[in-house]
Amino acid sequence: MRRLPPVLLEDGCSHDLVSLIRTILAACKEISFRVSQGALSGVLGSTLDENIQGETQKKLDVLSNQLLKDILLESGYVKAIASEEEPDTVAGNPDGQYIVAFDPLDGSSNIDINSLVGTIFSIMQVPKDADANDPNIFLQKGDQQVAAGYVLYGPSTMLALTTGKGTRIFTLDKTHGSFLLTTDFVQVPKTTREFAINASNQRHWEPAMKNYIADLLAGETGPRGENFNMRWIAAMVGDVHRVLTRGGVFTYPADTKNPEKPYKLRLLYEANPMAMLVEQAGGVASTGYERIMDIEPEQIHQRVAVILGSKDEVETCLSYHA
Ligand code: F6P
Repeated sequence: MRRLPPVLLEDGCSHDLVSLIRTILAACKEISFRVSQGALSGVLGSTLDENIQGETQKKLDVLSNQLLKDILLESGYVKAIASEEEPDTVAGNPDGQYIVAFDPLDGSSNIDINSLVGTIFSIMQVPKDADANDPNIFLQKGDQQVAAGYVLYGPSTMLALTTGKGTRIFTLDKTHGSFLLTTDFVQVPKTTREFAINASNQRHWEPAMKNYIADLLAGETGPRGENFNMRWIAAMVGDVHRVLTRGGVFTYPADTKNPEKPYKLRLLYEANPMAMLVEQAGGVASTGYERIMDIEPEQIHQRVAVILGSKDEVETCLSYHA
């Protein structure tokens, strides 16, 4: 099986980009180890703090953030980082040509129940003379990402990665610490009968999403004329991994539960990197009204509605929003 560096170099990635990805993966291997140690590593449970998103921070959120932040800022490749767990961007090497946005531990409510969690990252490029202290360097459309990926800490530790030449899946071989290529050309099936949504928010959704899900639930006696299955892992990495592996639709739509916070998922740390992975595998990623990777970000912690997955089914969902 092929190791990650030669695969990326053959794709034409620069040595610096390959080294940067390997740097991120070095932190992810450490996170993978800590996650797998569970209670033995003494990092289960919450801290007494809230992050910038107003969410209680888990000890593993803080640890994962610190590991990624330290290794990236020391690497020399990175001009600045933006993390879901940090209020502001953090400057690195003023001469670095890359910036990295990341969610250090997505799905962290799953930590204490020994269920799926993962790290999501997005790599963008900036001019050499850009100011490392300027947060606006992160306000790039998803289309400008040079690489995106996630590492899923599950029964095996897996990396889904794209550098714009398709999506690949690698599996961490823990016997010698390398990510080995296990699926070369990921293709999300065009059609599906599986969807993922937190249905407890149903009464707060827009009419378009209410109608779409009602038609799926009506099954073979409803307008769709077939039965659909539902899954919800409560960690976007887990749900998107299922979509990449066997198709499906994943959505976290707008809701009116808290009028000040109509969306849950973050554009820079979650929606954009997942949209790139899914599109590079032949799927579709939209807010319901526009392509996710076309959005001009206005601030680093911006949130968006997300509908992504199998092309035909996402397009059917979008037709309800038209
Ligand atoms: O980032 C937030 C997140 O944990 C996603 O990974 C996940 O898809 C979603 O929130 C779960 O939301 P809920 O708690 O509503 O099920």
